[in-house]
Amino acid sequence: MFAYRHAFHAGNHADVLKHIVLQQVMQYMMQKDKPYWVIDTHAGAGIYSLASKEAQTKGEYLQGIARLSLQDETDPAIVAYLELLTRINKDHGYACLDGQYPMYPGSPLIAEYLLRADDRLRAFELHPSDAPLLEDLFHKHKQVKVFAEDGFHALKALLPPPTKRAVILMDPPYEIKTDYDKVVQAVREGMQRFAEGVYLIWYPILPRADYRRMLDGLKKLSDKTLNVSMQVQAPNADGFGLLGSGVFMINPPWTMTATMTHTLPRLLEKLAQTPDASYSLEQGAALA
Ligand SMILES: C[S@@+](CC[C@H](N)C(=O)[O-])C[C@H]1O[C@@H](n2cnc3c(N)ncnc32)[C@H](O)[C@@H]1O
Repeated sequence: MFAYRHAFHAGNHADVLKHIVLQQVMQYMMQKDKPYWVIDTHAGAGIYSLASKEAQTKGEYLQGIARLSLQDETDPAIVAYLELLTRINKDHGYACLDGQYPMYPGSPLIAEYLLRADDRLRAFELHPSDAPLLEDLFHKHKQVKVFAEDGFHALKALLPPPTKRAVILMDPPYEIKTDYDKVVQAVREGMQRFAEGVYLIWYPILPRADYRRMLDGLKKLSDKTLNVSMQVQAPNADGFGLLGSGVFMINPPWTMTATMTHTLPRLLEKLAQTPDASYSLEQGAALA
């Protein structure tokens, strides 16, 4: 059940895409004075050393964050993301030498950095080792509450949030096949209570088709959707492997289509590991 630990994957190409989307959505939310909540249903440990034995085991970050550099970047969303990573690294005592990031922040830390005084973060993490790490990271932060609970199940109790504005990030490991159905069910229940929320659902692109079924289920919940994805890798010799990833958004900021139309080709240029690499951006009927 708890085989997945994000420390082995932190900073990989999937994190890069997901965290750029999260930051862009939060920057849009900040354009209004009214406070909002971020609900991270599958938060991870929050902070990862890229020198750790976990990160070094497969070195996934080498095909992700290590391929990006502020020195040769002009895309505004990628620049904003790299500047944020630089700031978070520095604040935690890591020097970014030669443009490399010794530490990689997870989604809750990225979100916490972007909160304004009245915004709130609610983060769920079930892993018996990672939940205490996340609690430690935020124990002095009054705006953040960490719950060692099932994020799928707990989400509906937080909706609608008091401010009636929220970004919900759902980023399960999908190590158990039932996660795909649980995502659709949790988002459906969330939408029933809070149809205006901005829902960001991360998914893996795998040779198996489970994720496509999940996307079909999510598309039935709303036509105000934007699905961005990037396939960077070919299947390995056994026909397996994480080929890429995507973020399915419900009620995305209207600015996201233009932002990602600019950012995705640049990201692909930097992160492609095969000549067949590709990206896609698909709008639901109400946005098309
Ligand atoms: C992909 S990782 C999260 C990464 C994080 N969102 C980020 O972007 O930095 C998924 C996390 O969900 C946790 N998890 C698995 N099932 C869960 C559940 N039902 N509720 C809350 N957390 C869960 C795992 O332990 C793992 O840390």
